[in-house]
Amino acid sequence: MLWTFLWFVGLLWHPSLSCYQCFVDVEDSLRLCWGYVLTQYHVRNVDECFRLLDRIFNLNQTVIEAGRVGKGFDTNLQQILDAEILPLAEEFDQKLNDEMVYETRLQTAADNFIAAASKLPRVSGCFPPCGFQILGAVYNCITCLYDSCEFPLDCPVEEIDITENSRSRMWCKVPFDLPNDVEVIWRFAEEVKTQEMDQFKEVTAGVDTLYSIPSTSLHHQGTYQCEIFSGSRSIVRLYYYISVTPQLVAGHTELQEIFDLSLLPGGQLLPAPGASPRSFLLLLPSLLTTCLTFSLLLLFLSLWVLIWMLKSEHNHPAEDSDEEEDLDV
Ligand SMILES: *[C@@H]1O[C@H](CO)[C@@H](O)[C@H](O)[C@H]1NC(C)=O
Repeated sequence: MLWTFLWFVGLLWHPSLSCYQCFVDVEDSLRLCWGYVLTQYHVRNVDECFRLLDRIFNLNQTVIEAGRVGKGFDTNLQQILDAEILPLAEEFDQKLNDEMVYETRLQTAADNFIAAASKLPRVSGCFPPCGFQILGAVYNCITCLYDSCEFPLDCPVEEIDITENSRSRMWCKVPFDLPNDVEVIWRFAEEVKTQEMDQFKEVTAGVDTLYSIPSTSLHHQGTYQCEIFSGSRSIVRLYYYISVTPQLVAGHTELQEIFDLSLLPGGQLLPAPGASPRSFLLLLPSLLTTCLTFSLLLLFLSLWVLIWMLKSEHNHPAEDSDEEEDLDV
């Protein structure tokens, strides 16, 4: 009985499991092993039966290899093994059987398992470059889990340029399947472009995979991190670096772009048909000066004419008398 106990303890503590232990309940194993009889001593020995199971299933590399199936096919492994073991457990429960019977029957069960499991798909679905993709790889009968794809948890930083006052949207989306119980935590590191965990402050926690800033202002510039958890296990960390362009600068840039567009490759302005806007522009100041001078001259001339006319009208009689005087003289 000590071995059985150690076997249970082993189930709980020993990291090296196997396809058998991953899929067959302890109660079924106990029913299966109930009538194991040592031929030499004619006594029942359940511990020896567990040792046999270990040898045939748990420590056999061929069995473990056969169990390395693709995503989702562990249920098939379960069905294959159940189909082999459960009828045996039913048959052997509460009945005595010689150890050689056990040996032959279990070996056949293992061979059948290897044959059927080897036909299951092995393809793995790993999506680079990041994330703990537990569903993405092959089944491992030593851990009773799918091997992860061994990508880093942190994804590369994605850069986003945003004009001030416009909307920013970031999605915490990954190309691989996630468990149903995920939690999403958004964090922000102001100004800096970083992946250092201690630079971030938590912003929101929940199930929201979208982080939206309706009107992005300059203080929104920095790195945003979203981390997806399942239970307490972190699955992936995505990063967005938002660089905010001030609207004034953006306006200038837009004007500059329009200006650049209207320029010819040589830096010339586009000529209007039949005219040269460039020379016209250059002439404009001198034309204005000419016009102004001319107007002023005209004004002075009219004033001078007006004064002369008034003066001559006023002086006429005197002139006449002067003439008369002159004549008189
Ligand atoms: C593993 O199991 C296969 C099939 O049952 C068998 O042929 C092989 O000899 C076993 N290997 C070892 C090391 O026991």
